[in-house]
Amino acid sequence: MSKKVRVGVLGVKRGTGLIDYSLDSCGDKFEVVAICDKWLEGLEEEKKKHPDGNVAFYPDFDEFIRHDMDAVVLANYGNEHAPFAVRCLDRGLHVYSEVTACQNMKEAVELVEAVERSGKIYALAEQYCFMPSPRKMKEYYEAGKLGELELADCEYAHDSSDAWHRLTFGDPNHWRNRAYATFYCTHSIGPILHATGLRPVTVTGYESAHNERRFSVGAKTAAFGVSMITLNNGAIIKALNGNLKGGTLWYAMYGSKGKMESSRSIANDGRVGHFMAELVGPTGRSPGRVCISPAT
Ligand SMILES: NC(=O)c1ccc[n+]([C@@H]2O[C@H](COP(=O)([O-])OP(=O)(O)OC[C@H]3O[C@@H](n4cnc5c(N)ncnc54)[C@H](O)[C@@H]3O)[C@@H](O)[C@H]2O)c1
Repeated sequence: MSKKVRVGVLGVKRGTGLIDYSLDSCGDKFEVVAICDKWLEGLEEEKKKHPDGNVAFYPDFDEFIRHDMDAVVLANYGNEHAPFAVRCLDRGLHVYSEVTACQNMKEAVELVEAVERSGKIYALAEQYCFMPSPRKMKEYYEAGKLGELELADCEYAHDSSDAWHRLTFGDPNHWRNRAYATFYCTHSIGPILHATGLRPVTVTGYESAHNERRFSVGAKTAAFGVSMITLNNGAIIKALNGNLKGGTLWYAMYGSKGKMESSRSIANDGRVGHFMAELVGPTGRSPGRVCISPAT
């Protein structure tokens, strides 16, 4: 039997939540050997979940990274992934990084160079690519049913005001309070890039005005932002990200042979679980309509 991959986790809550889920589904392939978090209360909770002594606990990343392991799950602050990923790769560890990968071009280049130099696997954990509609869109796009992408529309705006104090630990300087509204963009654009294999060439971003609703929970930045992204085939993505009342999670793609989209949440019929496509049929005349719910 092949050896289990020995995994270390940086960041409890999200990090250990991901691991607990993965242990349930593929626990025969890996084991958790170390958990790191400078938040001592959170680390103590994890110790209670692993009383058998098989997991080492570290409040300090510099000690954690020296643990004997094969791969690291990075679920640390959303704006600090790249430098931690580079350090792990340089130590010969595979990396599974929570979103987002980096916060500027300098970090992006440093990350790519570290992956190339290490020869290790780097995986960006953009799970929304694997929701039912995005998966179906990828299947249709790769089969050529949509033709060439011309326009994509994608929206991820999470109404998380009620949980904001927990998400930010009540810290006015927490990264979520300081991130500009277009920063957390992978849940919207990730599925489009994943489905098409196309790559961004240029981007322009717009932020809404700051408002009292966001200030009242401690956020210092705008409620939402819109990015206009040109891709390497000339197609354009309109991406909405942010924190809007009611929220939205929606994907649409328009190609040379038709269009496909997930359902609008307000239609109350399955959201990203409901996939619809209107495509030019084999005769090129009447559009063939496909409606799949759930989009499995
Ligand atoms: N894919 C998704 O749907 C999704 C959902 C939630 C969070 N996330 C991502 O998961 C990550 C974690 O988010 P979160 O809300 O759980 O927590 P968070 O960003 O508030 O904190 C991360 C944890 O890492 C710890 N940490 C940070 N730097 C550290 C260091 N240098 N040494 C030791 N510990 C350190 C913190 O104490 C904290 O417990 C973020 O990148 C976020 O973007 C993704």
